[in-house]
Order: sequence, then C-alpha cells, then structure tokens
Amino acid sequence: MSLASQAGRRRTFAIISHPDAGKTTITEKLLLFGGAIQMAGAVRAKRAGRHTASDFLKVEQERGISVSTAVMTFEYADRVVNLLDTPGHEDFSEDTYRVLTAVDSALMVLDNAKGVEERTRALMDVCRLRDTPVVTFSNKLDREGLDPFELMEHVERNLNISCAPMTWPIGMGKDFEGVYDIYSRRVIFYEPASRGRKNPQVVLDDLDGEALEQLLGSRLADKLREDIELIDALDPFDLEAFRAGMQTPVFFGSAMNNFGVKELLDRFVEIAPSPLGRQTLTREVKPTEEALTGFIFKIQANLDKAHHDRMAFLRITSGQYQRKMKLFHVREGRSVAINNATTFLAQDRVVTEEAWPGDIIGLHNHGGIRIGDTFTEGEALKFTGIPAFAPELFRRAILLDPLKAKSLVKGLEQLSEEGAAQLFRPLEGSDYVLGALGALQFDVIASRLESEYRVKARFEALTLGAARWVRGPEEILTRLRRENGHRLYTDIAGNLTLIAQSAWAVNYVQEQYPELEFLANVEI
Ligand code: G4P
Repeated sequence: MSLASQAGRRRTFAIISHPDAGKTTITEKLLLFGGAIQMAGAVRAKRAGRHTASDFLKVEQERGISVSTAVMTFEYADRVVNLLDTPGHEDFSEDTYRVLTAVDSALMVLDNAKGVEERTRALMDVCRLRDTPVVTFSNKLDREGLDPFELMEHVERNLNISCAPMTWPIGMGKDFEGVYDIYSRRVIFYEPASRGRKNPQVVLDDLDGEALEQLLGSRLADKLREDIELIDALDPFDLEAFRAGMQTPVFFGSAMNNFGVKELLDRFVEIAPSPLGRQTLTREVKPTEEALTGFIFKIQANLDKAHHDRMAFLRITSGQYQRKMKLFHVREGRSVAINNATTFLAQDRVVTEEAWPGDIIGLHNHGGIRIGDTFTEGEALKFTGIPAFAPELFRRAILLDPLKAKSLVKGLEQLSEEGAAQLFRPLEGSDYVLGALGALQFDVIASRLESEYRVKARFEALTLGAARWVRGPEEILTRLRRENGHRLYTDIAGNLTLIAQSAWAVNYVQEQYPELEFLANVEI
C-alpha cells in the first residue's frame, strides 16, 4: 500500500473529559469493537480522587500491565486507529497537553447530567490552540440528566463551538428507549448491558408514519417528532466546519451499557481527519513526504519494571519507518540506529516492523532523548507547538545521604527530561530548584528517586511562587543578569528563567525591563 493510502487510513486521537465522565469505560468499549481486547474489565479504571504518589504509581504500573498506557492501536473498518491515553490526574495535566499536540482529533466525553466540567474546558482550550476537530459523546443517558437541547446549548455557550447532533436520545433515565440516528434514519433500541442482548434497530424513512407510535408509544413518538423538527432548523453537520474546529458532531449514549458507542465509532472513523501536516521552525511537513520525520511528545518510565526502561514516544509526521532504520537526532546532531522500536497494541507490545504517519512508536531511551526532540532522515527540522508551562510550586531537594549528590542530580535531570517536573539551575549558587504544577508531582519524584536512583531525598518548600521564561535583546539580558542574577535560573534546555516569590514580584521585575518578554509558557 502506498504512503498516501497508509497515511489516509490512520486516525490518531485522544479522549478529553472530566474525571468520572466515563473515559475509561468508553476506551474499553472502543477497544472491544476494535478487537484489541476480548473481555470487558481488561482496562482498569483510574480513579481521579487518588491523592498519594504510591497510589498514582501503583495505578500507572497496573495499567502498564493491563494496557500499555500511552497509546492503543487497533484496526476498525479498514482504518488504523491510534488512541492516545491522557493521564487522569489533574496534577499531570502538562502531560495531557503534550499528548494533545500529537493527535489529529479528539473525542470529548461528557457526563450527560453535568455537561461541560472544568477539566474538559481546560483541555478544550488546548485543542483550540491547534483547531483540533472534536467529536462529542454525551454519556450516561441511562440516568436522568440535562435535556439534550440544554446540553448542546451548554456546550455552545461554554466552549464557543457549535453543535450538530448526529444521534438523538429517545427518553432518558428510566424512560431511556434508545437513539435516533439522524443521518441513517434508524431507531436503535436500548438494551441494558446486563440483559446481554444486541441492540435491535429499525430503519424508518418516515417519522410521521404510524410505525413510530407502535415502536415508542405516542408520548415518546410525539416528542421525537418535535425534537427532530427543531433539529432540522439547526445547522446540519458540516465536515469542513468540524475539521476547522468550529463545529462538534454530538452523539448520545451510555458507555457502560455499550450503547451508542458503535454508532459513534462508525462515524468517527469516517469523519475524523487522517494525519495532518505539522509545523516546524522552518516549514510545514506534509504526511505524504517520503522522508521520515517525527517528534517526541512523551517519555514514560518503568513500563517494564524488570528493565528500568524509559520509553520515548515518537509521533510519525511523515514518511515510513522500517525496522533497523537509522534516524537523525536533530538536537544532538547525530545519527542513531533504531533496532527495536515498539508498537503498542492494547495489551501487547511488539517490535515495530513498519510504521506510517499518524502512528506512534516507542524508542528505548537510555538518556539523550527529551520531550520535544525531532527525528528525521537527515534534515535539520524542529517541530514546534509542544508546550511547557511555567511551574507554580517550587521545592528544593534535600539529600538524606550526602554521598549521593551525583545520583541526585542525574535523577533530577532525567526525570525533568521526561517532563515529570522541571529542574532549574541557579545562575548564582548551587541550589537546584524543582518546579511543578501539582504537589503530587514532588511525591512521585521522591518515590522514583528512591526506587530508580537509590537516592533518598525530601523536598523542602521554598518561598518562590512564580516563574517566567525570559527572552529579548542580549544587552538587556546582560543587564538583567547583573541586576537580578539571584533570581535567574536556566531550565534543562538552557532557557533563561526568572523565578520570584510571587506573580507580583515577577511583574515588578518585568516592569523594569519593558524590552524583554516574560513568558508563562514556551514551546520546547
Ligand atoms: P473516567 O475514566 O472518565 O474517570 O470514568 P470511568 O469510565 O471510570 O467512569 C466513571 C464512573 O461512571 C464509573 O462508575 C462507571 O461505571 C460509570 N459510568 C460510565 N459510563 C456510564 C454510563 O453510561 N452510565 C452510568 N450509569 N454510569 C456510567 P463507578 O461506580 O465510579 O465505578 P465502577 O465500580 O462502575 O467501575
């Protein structure tokens, strides 16, 4: 098959949702349809309310065994679907944002009773940065919730995106009878999963006929007719508006009862975009370019406990990967032989024989690969758009065994390259500062330092509260270094960073150097 057709049949996406909306449940159903797992229950739920590092690590490990967390690949209707996982815990939101740079579309799962919740809104903001097309699934129709029109209005108002219903619920909660598939004009009847029957379907060309009454009773039949009349007055689904991130097609169902999910998947693989081009510092890379290119959007440690391995996830942006290929590591300016890249099926990992645009492959990382790195066949490209966010919590590592100073630095550097937290070196003095967005990140680091680097450390809070990356003309930077050297640090990529007690203190410095930019997020 040609490069263009291989790329054309890929669909690479992630699920965005607020904890408890049903992401895990729907992931499992999608994998079942894709034949990637055989049995319900294979995907272990990752509860959001976990608060300790060991809980988090344990869950990660459990998931590492049952499902390779970062990406799940399966075939469906002649398409290759790459579903990228997003961490469930808000303390690891930065990871999620980076995963979203590696997808071409997103599936937004909403709890039908709650509509758009805070986490969903934050993730939608990230999708919007690249106009990522978003498909919506309103979940838990087997329970009482918002009226579907209200739900769509809620989405439109909160997320500033227009909605186009693709299926429409008939009743809800105790009265939930099924959905009407607006485009294929089928009524699909709801059967709770507990009854174990298939959902019967009836094609109805004419909603006005007697047949509808016989199927639904007059109350629900009238309601459906009224609803469909109202829907007919709305903007219909528009592929272009969807692809531009301006309209979201909306599906209704119940993930737990595996209802409405197949309709969603059938349409999703049709309408979701195949791999899109990606911007670099110098030019746009098209997926159909012959030469292989890709970027690292995630590094994950301990997928395999026995090997202490760290896996770097490469999103292929163009060309074909073949086993034993040599790749050019642009930042390091050297060529590396990739003998054993990994492809992730839902429960298996296999050596990658070949891979195409849109696919994610895992590169074994023994150090030397960072988030944001670009790989090519020789061209010096650098993909853009992978974000780092200014940390808001700052701590200093206190070593409990003074002989382990070197291991501590190595550990902190490597964990920081993985994006687990951010390490800053002071321009003056020698106290490294570790920055994070969520407190749990420090616990995870302390626990990993101990298990992977045999370093016992604790973290001491610092009276620091805000960081900004600083850019501008060299002579002004020199003045800043001279006058505010004690507040300046470099991150692991060598970027100059100002860290101060508070946002107010940062502003104060900022006002004195109007020629400089003080950035709350940067591309890495
Ligand atoms: P998450 O990954 O987005 O956090 O959500 P998850 O799938 O774990 O689902 C959160 C809870 O919502 C689970 O219940 C799950 O069973 C339930 N759920 C998912 N889909 C539906 C649905 O269509 N209808 C109803 N009524 N519930 C649904 P739980 O009690 O927290 O866990 P569990 O004991 O069921 O695993």
